[in-house]
Amino acid sequence: MLPTPASLAAATAAAAGTPPQRSSGRRALSAALLMLAAPALLVAPAAAQSVSVLGSREAAQAAADQLVFFLQAPGNCLQVNSDLPASAPSKNLAALWIRAVFHDAGTWVPTGSPTGGANAGIMSFLNQTENGGIADSIAPKFQQNTKVSISKADAIALGGVVSVAHCGGPSITYSPGRVDTTTPANPTGRLPSATEAFDSVLTKLRRMGWSNEDIVALVTGSHTMGGVHGAITPEITNKPFVPFDTTPGVFDNDVFKRSLAGKCVLPVDCSIAKDATLRPIVEKYANDQQAFFTQYAISFAKLMGQTNDTTLLPSVPVTIALHKNLFAEGTTDENGNVLSGSSTTAAGSSPTNPSKAAAGEGSVVQRCVTVAAVWAAGWFLYSRLM
Ligand code: HEM
Repeated sequence: MLPTPASLAAATAAAAGTPPQRSSGRRALSAALLMLAAPALLVAPAAAQSVSVLGSREAAQAAADQLVFFLQAPGNCLQVNSDLPASAPSKNLAALWIRAVFHDAGTWVPTGSPTGGANAGIMSFLNQTENGGIADSIAPKFQQNTKVSISKADAIALGGVVSVAHCGGPSITYSPGRVDTTTPANPTGRLPSATEAFDSVLTKLRRMGWSNEDIVALVTGSHTMGGVHGAITPEITNKPFVPFDTTPGVFDNDVFKRSLAGKCVLPVDCSIAKDATLRPIVEKYANDQQAFFTQYAISFAKLMGQTNDTTLLPSVPVTIALHKNLFAEGTTDENGNVLSGSSTTAAGSSPTNPSKAAAGEGSVVQRCVTVAAVWAAGWFLYSRLM
């Protein structure tokens, strides 16, 4: 029997270990078209370019290159030498971009007439408490300086993809095509707050269709980058900066080890680690960084896909360089003091984390192979269903 678009989407989501996000026919059709496009992209990535200028591979790569340009200055995966304004309450540019993706897409209410989501609605609420600090990253550092024409919503999503990969994390499949909203959703009541009861936080995350794996990977997992700032979240600390882990400038699995040990900066991360259902997932990611990376790439793509738009295009490959000196510059003591900001690693040399090199992570070639493998697996699944 031929699969329907809806069953294809469900099978795709099931294969990815996540429940299907929406049952809309259009969304399912997009998933089916995505699968159909897989072999073409695998064999000839240039085929993905023809859809539109805004969604072209060139536009995405040009934007990614500019985002990398902002991040590649020494220390910009953490806060050393950051050229954010001196007054910026957080100077963690990469972390802010990742947080911005959540604060844009996390307003998503998919039921009834869906509202919110990854549509750059955040740009209308940058001065609101929920978005403290984010204005200094998105607005001056990219939106006002960029020379490439992609939508603001795409730029925010791509900023997250670039920040994760540039700072040592996994490659995330990026699909362009988000449209900037003219009816932005106010984040108040939609985004969780720092001291919110855990049940209430979970209700908000489940509202968006997040699975247990999505919750652990995206919430605690994203807190591998950056930390809490007294100027932004005074209810948690009065210090200028308290990192979530000892590698706040490196996207790794250290934060899971710390939350299992009860060393959480935010209550939500210890609530996740104590939850009987979620704790085994925290343990898994603490013991297996690759398992965390694999799930994070799936969950982050799902987060970026939380949009009412039916305009999302097939994914386009984007090459993202790893930050030079990442591991030397990205570590702090418990108070957020940078331990080795004056690394002498030569410009142009390869990343310095031997464990990652041994694990086969990091190189552009390896990342491309990973993308190809994902497409091949998708095509295999599709052909088996047919
Ligand atoms: C769902 C429950 C969540 C809560 C209650 C929460 C809360 C917070 C709070 C209070 C901060 C500190 C902000 C500051 O003082 O600078 C923070 C930082 C951060 N959050 Fe979350 N968060 C949650 C989920 C997420 C998710 C899903 C992501 C990304 C997908 C994320 C990414 C980040 C990042 C990267 C930072 C560091 C920002 C910086 O260093 O400037 N968070 N979060």
